[in-house]
Amino acid sequence: LLAQKDGYRFFMEKEIYEQSVVISDTLMGRLGENEIIFDELDKTLFDGINEIKLCACGTSYHAAMSASYLFERYSKIKTSLEIASEFRYREPIMTKDTLFVVISQSGETADTLETLKMAKAANLKTLAICNVDNSSMVRLADATILTRAGIEKGVASTKAFATQVSVFWMLSLYIAKRKNSLNAQEIASHISLLREVPSHIKVTDAMHERIKRLSKRYLHGHGFFFIGRDIFYPLALEGALKLKEISYLHAEGYPAGEMKHGPIALADPELFTIALLPKHLHYEKSKSNVEELSARDSTICAISQSEFDKADDFIQISSCEHYMLEFFEMMVVLQLLSLEISIRLGNDVDMPRNLAKSVTVE
Ligand code: G6P
Repeated sequence: LLAQKDGYRFFMEKEIYEQSVVISDTLMGRLGENEIIFDELDKTLFDGINEIKLCACGTSYHAAMSASYLFERYSKIKTSLEIASEFRYREPIMTKDTLFVVISQSGETADTLETLKMAKAANLKTLAICNVDNSSMVRLADATILTRAGIEKGVASTKAFATQVSVFWMLSLYIAKRKNSLNAQEIASHISLLREVPSHIKVTDAMHERIKRLSKRYLHGHGFFFIGRDIFYPLALEGALKLKEISYLHAEGYPAGEMKHGPIALADPELFTIALLPKHLHYEKSKSNVEELSARDSTICAISQSEFDKADDFIQISSCEHYMLEFFEMMVVLQLLSLEISIRLGNDVDMPRNLAKSVTVE
């Protein structure tokens, strides 16, 4: 079946709008009352496992980085993170108590696939988190969780990322139950939050219009910094990657607290800061980082639940009671912002120059 744009200007736009539906698919059958159900996993998968190693490229790497925060926070399991093209050549130490997890939309990325082969050769237990069933990684790994995002056409990944993070959130609770690091009540309250994700990532007309209007102020300048703390740091990295990929503007994701160690030297009105300010995670700390940039005259666009007077522009997300819901709301804002900037610059959003949907060469 040929994918159609269904009235959207680009596949990327369609895929941003689809997220609410595909996340429902990702969650389907996996949310029990006070436990996460992954029928596809062997009950013994986590037996004897003391560490999780996550390995991926590009956007999938950012989803993996988000997972590292969730696994240590909720599952209380040591988690490390690897860029596949680095891991392959750096003579890594692999111990048997490590579960090796590859994350890939396509399941075919050459560097990631090679790391999976290395882990298998070292006799590690392996898990693939993929979107494409029957892909090379799915066939090779001991266990698989499919993300169920459907076919993603846009080279800039959107819905695949959203489903990967949702799977990781569920997996962190699945492990937490086995490690007894969260009690049944805590898991149940996460599950009710997970049920709210589809409604929080629905694009509203008001939100899209606001971002469309705002985008015209962020076309020039000498660069963008996307900043956030904790799990909003990988989201900042992903926001910057989206912008780079389709607008060809220079953008960097940075941990908000690290700006003072160098990058703040770049601050002036032509430096655009996209600040992620979740209300429910390190709000005061993040705010003070933005204040520092504001004092140095950087042009600031804050994304938050409530107005922030030190910002030049403000994009309001809806009120939600947990930082993970803020995470998904902000993800959509960042996706729409790159989309609208790219469209204003006249670029082909779905076929960005120099990039491929799946990189099967080294
Ligand atoms: C390419 C794509 C990216 C993607 C990366 C990893 O660079 O352009 O959007 O994130 O590959 O792809 P994977 O299929 O392994 O997730």
